[in-house]
Amino acid sequence: MAQKLIAGNWKSNGSLADLDAFINEISAAAGLLSRAEVVLCPPFVYLQNAVSLCGGHLAVGAQNCSMQGAGAFTGEVASEMLVDLGVQWVIVGHSERRELFGESDAVVLEKVKRALASGLKVMLCVGESLAQREQGDATRIVVKQLSVVLSELTSLESLVVAYEPVWAIGTGKTASAGDAQEMHAAIKAELLASGLKGASSVKVLYGGSVKGSNAAELFAQKDIDGALVGGASLKAKDFLAIIAES
Ligand code: 13P
Repeated sequence: MAQKLIAGNWKSNGSLADLDAFINEISAAAGLLSRAEVVLCPPFVYLQNAVSLCGGHLAVGAQNCSMQGAGAFTGEVASEMLVDLGVQWVIVGHSERRELFGESDAVVLEKVKRALASGLKVMLCVGESLAQREQGDATRIVVKQLSVVLSELTSLESLVVAYEPVWAIGTGKTASAGDAQEMHAAIKAELLASGLKGASSVKVLYGGSVKGSNAAELFAQKDIDGALVGGASLKAKDFLAIIAES
């Protein structure tokens, strides 16, 4: 079976000291770490330190990138700059970016294209709100978010999809393993239907209140290939407990 991919999204949390301690502790658990492909996504300002401290089974990702290349775009970070720094991954289209910073599907598409063209591996986030799920609209919304991006790509070899139901993020509520599996299967069907290169090997991660105590059940599902972890990635002990279930 392919290794699980487990990514920690620190969001706007942590300090240099936290990063240092976290990476030391994680790296000391080399046996556990080698069970999975692990990616740490700290805030932009800590990326350079993370790159210099990580390696082996621990890769570094950014949480966002610009939809533009280099130029007069104050405050933006171009994907080429991330590559320049040695960053390998980027999260694009996180629901917090979509909701709080107004990122539309069209913006997400531009970011994915830019990031892939620069040589980054992309974790594309998709997910429905609680209202959309209650209206029975979850699969349609998620498939639409995905298909907008797939429509303009030529290869999926550097793409990972993260299904993160918005109502499960930071709430302590997790999608049931069965509901998550059902959505992951729909995502994989859409990927395959695209006919794009690499479609059959795209990993689909689950995100939304993943922790050591629920990871095993999620990871046992046929189409759950790993996790995108928020809160439980902030402490090495909690993050390692998830890796241990992979
Ligand atoms: P939590 O694990 O804190 O619910 O966050 C999930 C998430 O948004 C990861 O990107």
